[in-house]
Amino acid sequence: MRKLIISTVIAATAATGAFAQSPSDVAKARRAYFTLVGFEMSTLGAMAQGKIDYDADVASQAAKDLAALTGYTMSDLFAPGTSNDDLPGETRAKADIWADMPGVQDKGMAFYQAVAELNGVAGNGLEALQPAVGKLGGTCKACHDDYRAKDF
Ligand code: HEC
Repeated sequence: MRKLIISTVIAATAATGAFAQSPSDVAKARRAYFTLVGFEMSTLGAMAQGKIDYDADVASQAAKDLAALTGYTMSDLFAPGTSNDDLPGETRAKADIWADMPGVQDKGMAFYQAVAELNGVAGNGLEALQPAVGKLGGTCKACHDDYRAKDF
């Protein structure tokens, strides 16, 4: 099974510290990544909540796009020196992330697995979609609760 590539590569990049981008660029890219995650999730969430009609193709596409995003190598998005302590007003990523990479990895794996499960059922009707979206939403919240500040 493919693994979500967060902590192993983070550890490696943290060790070398080799980045071409400025810390602000990293924070911008990280937020852009999560904007895409949120974009796909809002389609799925609205469907699961009955705010838009269930459509098997649209649900499957959104799930597939989330799967593509879980294949993205996130290590460079979590370059050291890019927490909200380092860049106040530019990011909500808490310094706790860099102090607890194994914890972040656990939350990331739960997210990855929920996306994989969602991909198995997204096209199988609203009743199948709803619990999978609920479970996925729980994994977003779990990581945000610990590692994302409420405000900038
Ligand atoms: C492994 C941890 C983790 C998981 C899992 C996770 N997020 Fe996040 N998310 C973050 C962090 C950290 C930030 C703050 C990024 C920043 O400000 O630099 C964030 C920021 C965001 C943002 C705001 C982006 C912006 O423009 O500032 C959205 C939207 C978002 N996440 C949606 C989601 C959704 C939806 C899910 C689940 C489908 C999810 N996230 C799963 C850690 C996570």
